[in-house]
Amino acid sequence: MTAVTRRDTLAALTGVAVAATARAAPPLAPTLANAAARSGRRFGSCVSWSPPGADRGSFANPAYAALLTRDCDLLVAEGEMKWQALRPTPTSFDFRRADEMVAFAKAHRFAMRGHNLLWHQDKWLPRWVASYDFGPRPASEAARLVSTHIRTVVGRYGDFIRGWDVVNETVRPEDGTLYQTPFSRAMGGTEPLLDLAFHTARDAAPGAQLVYNDYMSWEPHNEAHRAGVLRLLEGFRRRGTPVDALGVQSHLVTQGIDGSGDAARLTPDWRRFLDAVTGMGYTLLVTELDVRDNNLPADPALRDPAVAAYTRGYLDVMLSYPQLRDVLCWGMTDRYSWIQGFEPRKDGAPRRPCPYDRDFRPKPMRDAVLAAFGAARVQAG
Ligand code: XIL
Repeated sequence: MTAVTRRDTLAALTGVAVAATARAAPPLAPTLANAAARSGRRFGSCVSWSPPGADRGSFANPAYAALLTRDCDLLVAEGEMKWQALRPTPTSFDFRRADEMVAFAKAHRFAMRGHNLLWHQDKWLPRWVASYDFGPRPASEAARLVSTHIRTVVGRYGDFIRGWDVVNETVRPEDGTLYQTPFSRAMGGTEPLLDLAFHTARDAAPGAQLVYNDYMSWEPHNEAHRAGVLRLLEGFRRRGTPVDALGVQSHLVTQGIDGSGDAARLTPDWRRFLDAVTGMGYTLLVTELDVRDNNLPADPALRDPAVAAYTRGYLDVMLSYPQLRDVLCWGMTDRYSWIQGFEPRKDGAPRRPCPYDRDFRPKPMRDAVLAAFGAARVQAG
């Protein structure tokens, strides 16, 4: 099992194994992956590609790789497996960066999730899709393009990557309807396209976990998004579309300084949503956890504990579901978090969304994740 291997690696690194005597082994350093494993789960993070030594959240940056090695047993590519990265043209694939990442994961005994096979929004598809000529039989040409893509990507990594975000973010947050793209228009609707994506993935990797991944969250103003995701998941079940799990991205947004109070307030509605999802037989994953530290003072001494308490409250709810097996952060350190550029703080202070700070020091958020795993009931199997 991966977790054991990584525990052993950590013990060797820290010299703990050397101390082995006839007496009981000393306690192992509490890592997030160890804590997750004890509750029958896995912990991981996204990682990206860069040239060796670059100051990036990349496996080729030794400082970042050390964080991954310490705390993770599961990785996911931040961008390298998306259409924009893999498909420079309609007829070609560029797997170089993704291959390097997979080689790193294999060499260091990480498991990997695949992200993603179809991010179904115009702005996340390669530019050539917008002007693509689907010819006289657009439906079959769109089906050919999408299914070839999925078969090729899954086929390349399918012996190693056992779970895929097949479709990413296709529900409009404002009204819960589905996005359209040139692919869905050519196919005469979004549902037929999504169904094709999942069926193709199932055929290409019959044993893999197939995930619909989205960012509907528990904060206010997510109601329409959640309702839309529930309708989509119901439709999958009705049509027999092979979808195993909902990926709950978990890009959280703090509400104020009282992190645990806010978490408690948001819990009932959130449980209703999760109950509906699991009631349909879906498994759950936390795929992209990070925290937008809004409505909080800039001072880290005040900000970090609020972020940690909010994270803890959230994970306590998530980990109360035995259907939840994987928890991944969208980056381990504030230094490389996408949130810094995507949504800067209004006061201009650097964001603090991740378990480690920009100097690779653990923050209260890391303690919160550790404690949440520690408190979670042990899973069978
Ligand atoms: C983000 C990456 O972190 C950025 O570097 C990139 O510019 C855009 O995508 N939901 C997802 C992820 O499913 O793929 C996104 O990742 C974050 C939101």
